[in-house]
Amino acid sequence: MKYSVVFSLFLILTTTSAEVDLLLARIACRMAVKQNLQITYVYRCASCAASLDPEHSALELELQRCVGSHVPVVSRKIEAFELEPLRQTDSLSIFHIPVAEKGDSLVRRILGMLNPRQPRKHMHKYIFLWPGASQDQLLELFSGCWAKQVLYALCITHRNRGIFDFDPFFIGGLKVVQSGENFRDKMSDLRGYPLRFSMFADPLMAIPRDPVESKGYKAVDGVAARVAAHMLNASITYVLPADNESYGRCLPDGNFTGVVRDLVGGHTHFGPNSRFVLDCIWPHVEVLYPHTRRILYLVVPASGIQPEYLIFVRVFRRSVWHLLLVTLLAVVLIFWLMQRFQDRVPRHGGIIHFQAKWYEIIEMFGRTHVGEPVLRASSFSSMRTFLMGWILFSYVLTTIYFAKLESGFVRPYYEPQLDQLDGLSQMDVHVYAVTTMYDAVRASLSDYHYGLLANRSRQLPLGLTTSYYQLLVVRRDRRSAFIMRDFHARDFLARNYNSELERPSYHIVKEYLRSMLCTYVLPRGSPFLHRFQTLFTGFHEHGFFEHWRQMDMLRREGTTPNGEEFYEDLGDQTDIDATASDATIRRKKRVVLTLDILQGAFYLWSVGIGLSCLGFVLEQGHYFWRRRH
Ligand SMILES: *[C@@H]1O[C@H](CO)[C@@H](O)[C@H](O)[C@H]1NC(C)=O
Ligand SMILES: *[C@@H]1O[C@H](CO)[C@@H](O)[C@H](O)[C@H]1NC(C)=O
Ligand SMILES: *[C@@H]1O[C@H](CO)[C@@H](O)[C@H](O)[C@H]1NC(C)=O
Ligand SMILES: *[C@@H]1O[C@H](CO)[C@@H](O)[C@H](O)[C@H]1NC(C)=O
Repeated sequence: MKYSVVFSLFLILTTTSAEVDLLLARIACRMAVKQNLQITYVYRCASCAASLDPEHSALELELQRCVGSHVPVVSRKIEAFELEPLRQTDSLSIFHIPVAEKGDSLVRRILGMLNPRQPRKHMHKYIFLWPGASQDQLLELFSGCWAKQVLYALCITHRNRGIFDFDPFFIGGLKVVQSGENFRDKMSDLRGYPLRFSMFADPLMAIPRDPVESKGYKAVDGVAARVAAHMLNASITYVLPADNESYGRCLPDGNFTGVVRDLVGGHTHFGPNSRFVLDCIWPHVEVLYPHTRRILYLVVPASGIQPEYLIFVRVFRRSVWHLLLVTLLAVVLIFWLMQRFQDRVPRHGGIIHFQAKWYEIIEMFGRTHVGEPVLRASSFSSMRTFLMGWILFSYVLTTIYFAKLESGFVRPYYEPQLDQLDGLSQMDVHVYAVTTMYDAVRASLSDYHYGLLANRSRQLPLGLTTSYYQLLVVRRDRRSAFIMRDFHARDFLARNYNSELERPSYHIVKEYLRSMLCTYVLPRGSPFLHRFQTLFTGFHEHGFFEHWRQMDMLRREGTTPNGEEFYEDLGDQTDIDATASDATIRRKKRVVLTLDILQGAFYLWSVGIGLSCLGFVLEQGHYFWRRRH
């Protein structure tokens, strides 16, 4: 009897406590269903002593049953994983931890298993089901999570108001806070959290302010970084890469240089220099969604002036010269034929007619062409009309020729610019670029084209990108070409603008080397990725970047006024359009005389010939008609 009472008491106690526990499982289940992510992982500990405990098992079963019947779920044994596997989709992980102190060892194990380099942290959420955990235990759990860069984690400890979250940016350190069933956005206010930006100077995008460590940079990238920091309410330290290698590259031993080394090593949080990411760097960093494309161009010395003696020839297209020759021959032939036929018509006094030899005819037309008077002319009206037609034609043509020649001397002709990479084989230049540029274009060029570049290459250390080494090189080596990004190339052209010749001394080869996405990089697994992404997307979509870029344009200095005007004409377009329109403007200015323009003179000539031929036919006809009657 006594025993049965004790036993039933025990039963009642266990059922009530089991009921409590099952409710915890249902809360976790409700939260999982609400999140409704692509996959939910439920982790269980098979080797834990507590797994034999009926309460623990009941709770675990309820968790599995409830979650499994509502959302796609994968059950995992914690023992199977040294490190949490990488996940491709958004996910929720639910860990079931034994009651209170019994869970401590498992918590340590779980914290050891979390992967700090798990990419896209904002897509992965964690729920810990830890009945009866104390505040200290929670603090330890959440500190461990934050150390592994986990952003979203909740812990369920009791049924009433027993859900806890953490605030990593609380003044004085991480704090455990009570929470609802939703994951809070933690990134809205960093409350002065110390962030480190890996940033270096760029002559167009990031101009240092003094002192650079705290004040940061001017120009587009500098402004974007400062505004982002301000909106996060973080305190920023700007860190220069120790080796001065700015963007950074991959070393053969698997290490990196420049900002990539700092970022990958976790020494800094964000690299706000707009950049393209080399293929070898890509897997080791996280990038913001890229909104801009940059093109790598080859910039070569502009073509030279054409030799002056050719001006006389090149005033007319070759086809025009050919037509002129044909015209002269036709005129001579027709004149000669007319002469022969006129001979048959008997003449009465006062009319001069003479037979000229073919070379005399050529001489006569030649002389009239350059404006000499005709010494002996037939008095037949048809022949005179013919001659007049020729003289008018010559007059118009000569006038155009000399006018064009004159303007040719004022506005010189240039050789065609190099616009195809193939043309590089005839060019005797040294191609200067920092090493990473060669790495970047190697992937996109054919072996032959890369060979053309490589055979002329002068590879420079990466540390130079921050300065305008090109301007220094140009002064020493006039036979220099460069590989540059589009906006640097345009600026370089403006800085080298030759005001005397009214043209840039360098030329952007239209066939570009590579087009790359430009973006900003963060360490892999960074919890800040999503926040920076939303900020920078906002800057882009609301036109801030565009505005900042225009402000930079207004504040530009260091070029001549003419160069500045040229730069503005080039525009801010990222691709070829700018250079193409520039070329059409220049083509419009320099008119080559083609048949389209000269056709008037030829019409004049045809009318003269036509009239004289008509007169000739009339004369002949009249004579034969008279003879018959
Ligand atoms: C920014 O952080 C400071 C603490 O460093 C805090 O006092 C202030 O209220 C925060 N500002 C905003 C706008 O949240
Ligand atoms: C980097 O540049 C700074 C300043 O220009 C210089 O003091 C430092 O020695 C350079 N570091 C290396 C590794 O070249
Ligand atoms: C990379 O560089 C760091 C510091 O310079 C060094 O400690 C590490 O051993 C290097 N790693 C490899 C794989 O060479
Ligand atoms: C580059 O130079 C090497 C040897 O000087 C030569 O064999 C090769 O054909 C050159 N490549 C090109 C594309 O000119």
